[in-house]
Amino acid sequence: MYNFEFQNPTKLIFGKGTIARIKDEIPAGTKLMLTFGGGSVKKNGVYEQVIDALKGYDVVEFWGIEPNPKVETLRKAIELGKRENVDFILAVGGGSTLDGTKLIACGIKYDGDAWELVLDNSLVKSGVQFASVMTMPATGSEMNSGAVISNLATKEKFAFYSYYPKFSILDPEVTYSIPEYQVSCGIADTFVHVMEQYLTTTGINSLMDRWAEGLLMNLIDIAPGIAEDHKNYDLMSQYMLSATMGLNGFIAMGVPQDWATHMIGHELTALHGVTHGESLAIVLPATMTVLSEQKKLKILQYGERVWGITEGSESERITKAIEKTEQFFRLLGLKTRLHELNIGEETIAEIERRFNERGVKLGECKNVTGTVARAILECAL
Ligand code: NZQ
Ligand code: ZN
Repeated sequence: MYNFEFQNPTKLIFGKGTIARIKDEIPAGTKLMLTFGGGSVKKNGVYEQVIDALKGYDVVEFWGIEPNPKVETLRKAIELGKRENVDFILAVGGGSTLDGTKLIACGIKYDGDAWELVLDNSLVKSGVQFASVMTMPATGSEMNSGAVISNLATKEKFAFYSYYPKFSILDPEVTYSIPEYQVSCGIADTFVHVMEQYLTTTGINSLMDRWAEGLLMNLIDIAPGIAEDHKNYDLMSQYMLSATMGLNGFIAMGVPQDWATHMIGHELTALHGVTHGESLAIVLPATMTVLSEQKKLKILQYGERVWGITEGSESERITKAIEKTEQFFRLLGLKTRLHELNIGEETIAEIERRFNERGVKLGECKNVTGTVARAILECAL
């Protein structure tokens, strides 16, 4: 096991009717900014619950943080936050709203332009406190310090690290209104978060392996029931907690991590607006295929423990494990090939060019360069 440090300060408040608990967590007299996405919370009653819980607080609202939050939008929220002297931000929405809020929180305390913080994380020295009412299980943003911010002008999408939410409220009932496609993308995103932390090499930390495999198996178990009825409280609770546990550091202790699939997926989103979870469903099977020799032992372990693949030669079992993974995404109703989105050589060349220009070396072996990313994308055609 590798050395590691672990500290996750976010308080999780989970269950039915928990939105009312906001007022117990934010001190009276706080100047509060609420941040929202495009309006789903007005249709599903979440907005009303939040406003009811915040009676008596001095509140300013910022609306319009879009999926794959754009720095162009977030700059406006930062201006508002500075002007209004806010000292706490409550994000009410999905991962995009919360990710955007993480940059807003740091941007309010920064004199320069917010994009500088994304390009150079060491410039982040402080931020106002923030918390979330999470309405979309997927990113784990409710219990991690990461965010992914896009730039419309330059068509770039980069990870950014701020602070952890002070608390996050997860009421599975708010997920009933999520469109089916977004639920599928959220399950795929959660699955791939686990894979990024798991599918590296064997024999490092058997506890983390078992935990990760448990999360993957549970997602595979619950996905068909959710497809049938995504208003099933027990299933949506499992899904919601899985998304949080998939990316809050609990399965990352003392293990190497990959993240090449995510970084390639982010390029597809930046260039073509592909929804995050679907971008991963396209890239992961191809990453597994291209890196199958390097990841051989772990893919075999994954195949056997997660999918019960015990028969055939090593290469047959590896092929089967990759097929099972792609089939899982297809059962969710997601596309798994670039041609299905009319993406081809031109985009592959652009991603290769960008990676080479940035000197990118991704993955647990730092060997996923522009050339390897090209091979992965060609395999995903
Ligand atoms: O904007 P509104 O109107 O709220 O609608 C949203 C949006 O259209 C809707 N939605 C959310 N909750 C809903 C709902 N609709 C009905 N009922 C609800 N309860 O769903 C749409 C997608 O929302 P979004 O927030 O974009 O989805 P998600 O949570 O998947 O976030 C995606 C973003 O997170 C980043 C991705 O790159 C992407 O930018 N990620 C963040 C990570 C992190 N912070 O650690 C890690 C991830 O790997 C990921 O990269
Ligand atoms: Zn993700």
